[in-house]
Amino acid sequence: MPLEKLDQSLQQEIEALQSEGRAKAPERIIVDYIPPRGDRGPRYKLKGAEQEFIRMNSNSYLSLSNHPALIEAADEATKKFGVGPGAVRFIDGTFHYHVELEDRIARFVNKPTAKIFNSAYTANCGLAFAISNKQTYWIGDELNHNSIIRAMRIAGVPRENKAIYRHNNMDELKKCLDNVPEGIERVVIIFDGIFSMRGDYAPIDQIVKIAEPYHERFKDGVITAVDDSHGIGAYGATGRGTAEYTGAQPDIIVGTFGKAFGVNGGFIAASPTVIEAVRQKADTYIYTNPLSVADCAAAIKAIDIADSEEGQERLRHLHARIKQFREGIEALGLESIPGPHPVVPLLVRDTKKTHEMVNRLYDKGVLVVGLTFPVVPKGDETIRFQINAAHTEADVDYVLSVLAEFRK
Ligand SMILES: Cc1ncc(COP(=O)(O)O)c(C=O)c1O
Repeated sequence: MPLEKLDQSLQQEIEALQSEGRAKAPERIIVDYIPPRGDRGPRYKLKGAEQEFIRMNSNSYLSLSNHPALIEAADEATKKFGVGPGAVRFIDGTFHYHVELEDRIARFVNKPTAKIFNSAYTANCGLAFAISNKQTYWIGDELNHNSIIRAMRIAGVPRENKAIYRHNNMDELKKCLDNVPEGIERVVIIFDGIFSMRGDYAPIDQIVKIAEPYHERFKDGVITAVDDSHGIGAYGATGRGTAEYTGAQPDIIVGTFGKAFGVNGGFIAASPTVIEAVRQKADTYIYTNPLSVADCAAAIKAIDIADSEEGQERLRHLHARIKQFREGIEALGLESIPGPHPVVPLLVRDTKKTHEMVNRLYDKGVLVVGLTFPVVPKGDETIRFQINAAHTEADVDYVLSVLAEFRK
């Protein structure tokens, strides 16, 4: 049957998104990677553009994607076992690399066990499938990532079993706990560790403390679950994430191998029984092929490096560049949200100016993301910069020199 009728309807929906300013721009295509030279970090070439670009919009905080040891590990695993697993995990699609990665990430985040997923997105969905039932009540931060919000819907959590508190507002979190309806047996407080658009963090120490007195009230207790996709590998003294930074231990940790570790894939780390429930009940784990052995071998190597002196040196360099960039934009009289995370938001507070700055940075070979209404509220228009361990001092100075044109 021709798709014309469907195409027509979809076209109208796409045009509505465009007129509301919510449509995604066409995707730019990376066609070349130019390794670091002298005092310059890596550069990228885009299809249709002459200039070379610094990526200031990559989540690869430790800059491990092009690390020779990761590439070699991925090559070795591929040569032995091939490029794809050939089946889902429970139908003999489990290779020793999958299990080793689960052990390795569990150790890294200080949990007894973990299960890996194709992404943190599907991990959040898997968590909701595994631990939600009719008597479960979910409480979340208003700025939680789309995957957490979607996970609730996919797992069929009804509206009356959910509550949202204003961003990092601990008084409201407490009110949400006070207002949990009768008949609820299990409460899950779920939040991003690092909020990806702002670079600020959830005060896990306070959340755990607020939750504690309520634990006895519910048959299965109050469970704290953090999605620390932007924190793990990049945040805290040794890169163990927001839990380390706040000195607290949430019950469940969700994360990704696709950001600081520079590979791909996600995970849930928790008690052995929660993880067995994930294996038995999480559809996004059960009914889909797992990561390739290449991804797993590279991710294991990435965690090993993050845990080594080399990783600590990368973290030190990253923190020095974050400090340099933050001090630089402050000296230019530009506004940001303070904090030591590699996500550095530049608050422009004007749509036209945001577009102007993003375009100027692009012309000068700097890739960033501009966030304007309705993605952010009017007046909060922002340019998101992301520093990574491959940026050099000269790279950061260069980006600051472009921003100097917009000094206050
Ligand atoms: C908090 C959070 N969770 C999940 C994700 C998705 O990660 P992945 O690419 O591994 O699905 C992101 C990335 O954008 C994120 O910021």
